[in-house]
Amino acid sequence: MKQHLAVLSVLCLCFFPCFVSKDIRMNPRLTQHHPGGTPYLLPREEPMASFYLDINKSMYIGGEEVLYHFNLTEMRNYSLKADSYESQREKRGENCQNQPYCKNYVTFVGELGGNLLICGTNAYNPTCWKMDGEKFTRISERWTQQLSPRTPDSSYSILNTGNETYSTIPRGSSASTRQPQFRKIFGSGSQLYTGDKLLINPLFVKSLVVKRKEEKENKIFLFYMDVNSQSRSTESEVPMIAQMCEEEIGSDAANERFRFSTALKSRLICGTPTAQQYYPFLQDIYFLESRDLLYGLFTNAWNHSAVCSYQVEDIERVFNTSGLFGSSRTDLSIRPGTCLGKKPTPEATADEVANYPELTSWIWPLANQTLFQSLYHYRKLVVDEITAVDEKNYRIVLLATDEGTVHKVVELPDGFLNVLELHPFSKPAKILHFHLHTDKTEHVLYVAAAQGIYRLPLDDCTSYNESCTDCIISKDPYCGWSEGKCHSILVNKSSRVLQNLAHDDKCNDEAEIKILPRRTEFHKSSGDNAELPPSKFYLECPTESKQARYWWTYGNSEMKNCTPNEDQCMLLFDRVTSPGEYHCMSQELSTVRVVRKYTFAMNYSGRMQCSWLVVLAFSILTVYYIL
Ligand SMILES: *[C@@H]1O[C@H](CO)[C@@H](O)[C@H](O)[C@H]1NC(C)=O
Ligand SMILES: *[C@@H]1O[C@H](CO)[C@@H](O)[C@H](O)[C@H]1NC(C)=O
Ligand SMILES: *[C@@H]1O[C@H](CO)[C@@H](O)[C@H](O)[C@H]1NC(C)=O
Ligand SMILES: *[C@@H]1O[C@H](CO)[C@@H](O)[C@H](O)[C@H]1NC(C)=O
Ligand SMILES: *[C@@H]1O[C@H](CO)[C@@H](O)[C@H](O)[C@H]1NC(C)=O
Ligand SMILES: *[C@@H]1O[C@H](CO)[C@@H](O)[C@H](O)[C@H]1NC(C)=O
Ligand SMILES: *[C@@H]1O[C@H](CO)[C@@H](O)[C@H](O)[C@H]1NC(C)=O
Repeated sequence: MKQHLAVLSVLCLCFFPCFVSKDIRMNPRLTQHHPGGTPYLLPREEPMASFYLDINKSMYIGGEEVLYHFNLTEMRNYSLKADSYESQREKRGENCQNQPYCKNYVTFVGELGGNLLICGTNAYNPTCWKMDGEKFTRISERWTQQLSPRTPDSSYSILNTGNETYSTIPRGSSASTRQPQFRKIFGSGSQLYTGDKLLINPLFVKSLVVKRKEEKENKIFLFYMDVNSQSRSTESEVPMIAQMCEEEIGSDAANERFRFSTALKSRLICGTPTAQQYYPFLQDIYFLESRDLLYGLFTNAWNHSAVCSYQVEDIERVFNTSGLFGSSRTDLSIRPGTCLGKKPTPEATADEVANYPELTSWIWPLANQTLFQSLYHYRKLVVDEITAVDEKNYRIVLLATDEGTVHKVVELPDGFLNVLELHPFSKPAKILHFHLHTDKTEHVLYVAAAQGIYRLPLDDCTSYNESCTDCIISKDPYCGWSEGKCHSILVNKSSRVLQNLAHDDKCNDEAEIKILPRRTEFHKSSGDNAELPPSKFYLECPTESKQARYWWTYGNSEMKNCTPNEDQCMLLFDRVTSPGEYHCMSQELSTVRVVRKYTFAMNYSGRMQCSWLVVLAFSILTVYYIL
């Protein structure tokens, strides 16, 4: 190998810079077609399905007139048909036989007040059932109408904190014409709702509760796209964040007693202003509670994506200090938006909030730039955090593409790196649900489409199991090399486990040599007689990593470079005139290695053309360069 080292060091210096480019890091390095994990497949497709994972990791899936329940070992289904049309409803003209959603679509499964509730559209007459063992009892409380929309394709948001439930679904049959509201529908205290100027024509993305150190300061955040009501920019729709105090009790003005008196909103920006790059469409939000960080997934008109993050404290500061758009009052004793706990908001402040709910200032992302941008069209994100073998915490952004694949993007000291693409579904699918569940023993991603839901353990390391270098070059913080295997560090996290995330850990060479089965492979590219060596043929080299450069060498000289994104790096021959060693090489960051090695020997007893192809077993060797 010695003479190759000299060649390689020259190559490294020449080609290293192109691997620092941001774009190549955003291509998924490897692709895994059949990820490890458990599929829960449905007997028929449910394109409008709803999902709920209970504390015992039992999965409930609501479909068209059916509820599926998967405990870890088996699946059951329960029929949930729409009510029959009693004469009462017929008389009121509520027969929906000729309308598109004249069925019961189960849109909500969740726990409320200690009961498991199943709610559905019930043929334009939303209803909930309490599930008790295998029995379903209809609940006829008024609020059940606000746990399911009238049609399954509506945009709405339900926030269920365990003790309190909020919903944006309007109540009653004239509901579709009413001004959209966010309303508390279940729980202690007043059932407050937002005023007419907060939500105009919203497309809801997410609602969540953010706990603060002082309970009184706890906030509800709403994320949505809405009509651009400020005339400061040209977009017709913009991403918005609204907030209100979770504990508030309304205003002391008699006619405003049931209105949220602290609900304000602002525009949420994702982009890099210095580069004039903006991503105006909000797709998804994830709250990483351990860091008080919100992650936003945005796209632009070309369907390219960007991820931005926002520190909750920074958002709080903007809401604490900004003026209100259109308002000129500066004489209020209590600032609009102030959380007063169990005290009512004074009338003057509440009026100001109702009339001018939008801040003058916008919410800019952390460091005023995107975390990363990508040419992929992403629809959903979650963010996980794990303590690696080096005792440092690593964050992993998991993204769902609009084709149903999942990308694992790791935040490393030198930037974000897309380490893996997973294909849980056999064909392109719309992701309906993307949910992260972590506890002491597992980090699991649930990915659902109409076919069913996949339970993907994030610490599945089978994609990197070929050799020690394959394992540590993966830069996957869940995986490390020990005892001849690429393991999950959740299972085995001793200091002898090798990872290469922040510093340059190396594999020892013994762990590397892996003799693949002896093969005689040459591939014909024309229809020669099989007995004779073909005059045209090619050698193959798999190009698994989309972040590596591949090329062929003969002796000391470079023969051919391969373009990225080909599945194979092929070396074509008209006829072999030079015996000797042909190597397929790869370089990724500072690791250069031999991927395939072929040796041709001449057979001098025969004539040149009917001769001599011998392909030797090949080995994978690794050579490190620290540049
Ligand atoms: C979870 O399991 C425990 C023990 O098996 C059981 O008592 C409890 O009712 C279950 N909870 C739910 C929500 O199913
Ligand atoms: C799943 O449900 C079946 C039938 O209801 C029951 O026999 C089994 O014990 C359950 N398994 C778990 C893990 O809860
Ligand atoms: C429910 O399960 C039964 C028996 O397992 C099956 O025959 C039926 O097709 C299922 N129904 C639905 C809607 O999947
Ligand atoms: C619900 O309320 C009870 C009693 O006030 C409290 O102990 C519990 O933590 C609350 N649960 C949640 C999820 O906030
Ligand atoms: C963006 O994606 C949407 C939905 O998949 C598609 O309808 C639209 O044509 C795409 N736009 C561009 C510019 O590719
Ligand atoms: C915002 O104001 C509240 C109430 O005055 C205060 O508790 C909180 O610390 C402030 N937050 C920031 C980031 O300034
Ligand atoms: C971010 O950029 C915008 C536009 O250039 C600017 O108005 C704003 O003050 C910047 N924010 C921060 C925190 O730097």
